[in-house]
Amino acid sequence: MSDYALLARQLETLLDTRDWLTNTAQTCAFLMHEIPDLNWAGFYLQRQPGTLILGPFQGLPACNPIPFDKGVCGAAATSRRTQRVADVHAFPGHIACDAASRSELVIPIERDTELWGVLDLDSPRPARFSDTDQAGIERLVDVFVAASDLPTPGA
Ligand code: SME
Repeated sequence: MSDYALLARQLETLLDTRDWLTNTAQTCAFLMHEIPDLNWAGFYLQRQPGTLILGPFQGLPACNPIPFDKGVCGAAATSRRTQRVADVHAFPGHIACDAASRSELVIPIERDTELWGVLDLDSPRPARFSDTDQAGIERLVDVFVAASDLPTPGA
């Protein structure tokens, strides 16, 4: 089981610049290597209103763009709530970028009152993400946000 308190401290140390682009790249590489059983970890950013554009990621080339009314990522962007999907095949509208993906965790990231983007994690293992994983990874997203100067969505 991952020690999320330790991972949070390690990520704080890793993110030693305020540059959001560098920090998105470092964060998804860190998650991909430190969290077991992931096949994709990355960011989608709201760079056009109502649309998520693929940002830095680790894993296979991915679907782009994703409108807010599509997929697990779109559900996170619209609801502004973390989406934890135990079985992606049972999620209506799930977008299959990698056929190996079986479960997914998508965490919305806000800047002031706007949706800035989402962090998307995929796993080849069904029901990979527990309550503890969700809380721990939400904490890691908080570390990323606190360490970064996020531009206005669309900039
Ligand atoms: N499965 C996501 C699409 C992004 S890929 O997983 C990288 C979705 O349904 O929104």
